[in-house]
Amino acid sequence: MKTVSFRLLAASLLLAVQAAHAATPSPELPRIVGKDGHYALMVDGAPFLVLGGQAQNSSNYPAALPKVWAALKDAHANTLEIPVAWEQIEPKEGTFDFGYVDKLVQEAREHKMRLVLLWFGTWKNTGPAYAPEWVKFDNKRFPRMIAKDGKTSYCLSPFGTATLAADKKAFVALMEHIRKIDADKRTVIMVQVENEVGTYGVARDYAARAQAAFGQPVPASVLAHQPPPKGRAKQGTWSEVYGDYADQYFHTWAIASYIEDIAKAGRAVYDLPMYVNNALREPHLNEATPPWKADFASGGPTYDVIGIYKAAAPHIDFAGPDIYMPESNKVSATLQLFQRPDNPLMVPEMGNAAGYARYVYQIIGKGALGVAPFGIDYAMYSNYPLGSKFTDHRMVEPFAKVYDVFAPMQRVWAKWAYEGRTYGAAEGDDRKPQTVAMNGWDAQLSFREFQFGEREYLKDKNEYAEGTEHPSGGVAIAQIGPDEFVLVGQQIRVKLSGTGPNAGKPAMFARVEEGHFDADGKWIMERNWNGDQTDYGLNLPATPTVLKVRMGTY
Ligand code: DGJ
Repeated sequence: MKTVSFRLLAASLLLAVQAAHAATPSPELPRIVGKDGHYALMVDGAPFLVLGGQAQNSSNYPAALPKVWAALKDAHANTLEIPVAWEQIEPKEGTFDFGYVDKLVQEAREHKMRLVLLWFGTWKNTGPAYAPEWVKFDNKRFPRMIAKDGKTSYCLSPFGTATLAADKKAFVALMEHIRKIDADKRTVIMVQVENEVGTYGVARDYAARAQAAFGQPVPASVLAHQPPPKGRAKQGTWSEVYGDYADQYFHTWAIASYIEDIAKAGRAVYDLPMYVNNALREPHLNEATPPWKADFASGGPTYDVIGIYKAAAPHIDFAGPDIYMPESNKVSATLQLFQRPDNPLMVPEMGNAAGYARYVYQIIGKGALGVAPFGIDYAMYSNYPLGSKFTDHRMVEPFAKVYDVFAPMQRVWAKWAYEGRTYGAAEGDDRKPQTVAMNGWDAQLSFREFQFGEREYLKDKNEYAEGTEHPSGGVAIAQIGPDEFVLVGQQIRVKLSGTGPNAGKPAMFARVEEGHFDADGKWIMERNWNGDQTDYGLNLPATPTVLKVRMGTY
């Protein structure tokens, strides 16, 4: 009797456990989804905005992490981008050590931070510095590229079959390990495959193995994604089709195919979103892009060859620009060139000098998956003049104040971005007014204004508000209804005027609430702006401010 009831109890317990399992949604892997050219990075089943920071290159060791977490926390970031080096996980061929990865993932959870892992393998800033010693000094087994003049280049060849096999083996081992330790928690949300690939000074590999491939017809998928220049053959060898661009395009295809092989194998064991980052070339926005002239790394995912990456590397979700050009016109052009219907925008790296902080508004406003200034890390290393001179809180602060307002609203913002409701702008180096066209409304933006009155009221027309000596204004706007907006910005004047169905109609503010989003993403109103605070547009101070604005017409 007793035995029977125990059996019954055990069976019903088993059923209860099974039912509970069925009720618990299975953990959804991070993935990138797209709709009508708008994208979202889904994390735990909902759009997620990467408010990121990248650690310094050599902070990928447990002892260096405290200074990384401290900076990330001060920055109000939600994601750390940090390297995992091939040399550290496979110092001896076939022997893997994931001690650092384990510590990193565990500490990330303790600090409530997500991780984007940067795979520093065959190529880091084009060179093999992060490959294990057994790779980087064995030219026979792991060949370097050969330049046109027959000289051996510094860069490992994308035609090195043993190099590809070895890199892939290590990467797959890493992905297997991440799956093992993180599949149930999803602390790691994305992986960058290699780092700033390409080759400086040499257009492509000229060794026999590469020459043979160069004489072959261009693959049909490349032709479909990267149309031949005007007047050239529609098919044929690389030279026949692409003429002066052939060397760069061929090298791009070779590197992209190599990366594809690695990414595909990694995703087969653990299917996280994967991307590549780019050391930029000068952007040519409304003019033809000239052929490579040793002026950038040939073979990297520069804006002009994103099509080749799409063709050769379908397991790479996007190519992202590493923005170290401080000039506002170049930043705008670069963002425009990388944001394509087939390429979600995400800025995996950006300078950490104060002048870059305003671009966070522009990037997030444009609907990017996220952004990460480089060197958000209190390691005593400054990469000035690329970034900030400071290595303490003074470096973090300009970004921290922007992230602070976005942090509680990051989920709802990412959802708006996915719905195509968001717009963004940053003050230009010329300090000139700008117009942002939205649905039925234009936002007129101006900079260096006093909060009260118009410029013509001033005795000295060249008098400017204090603290506006350097461009630092920016705004991100979400149009959450036909006449309703959420504005997040600093050091900017915003005026709204009707267009389309509202054109020519007299309009005024119906309501301008200042407030914030709480930890649950709920709007908390603090006060209503009216009178002087709205008579001269919406004048956002140096402290980032969030407004919920409704317009009315009569
Ligand atoms: C871009 C690279 O991707 C980073 O790893 C780093 O080297 C920066 N440049 C410069 O600090």
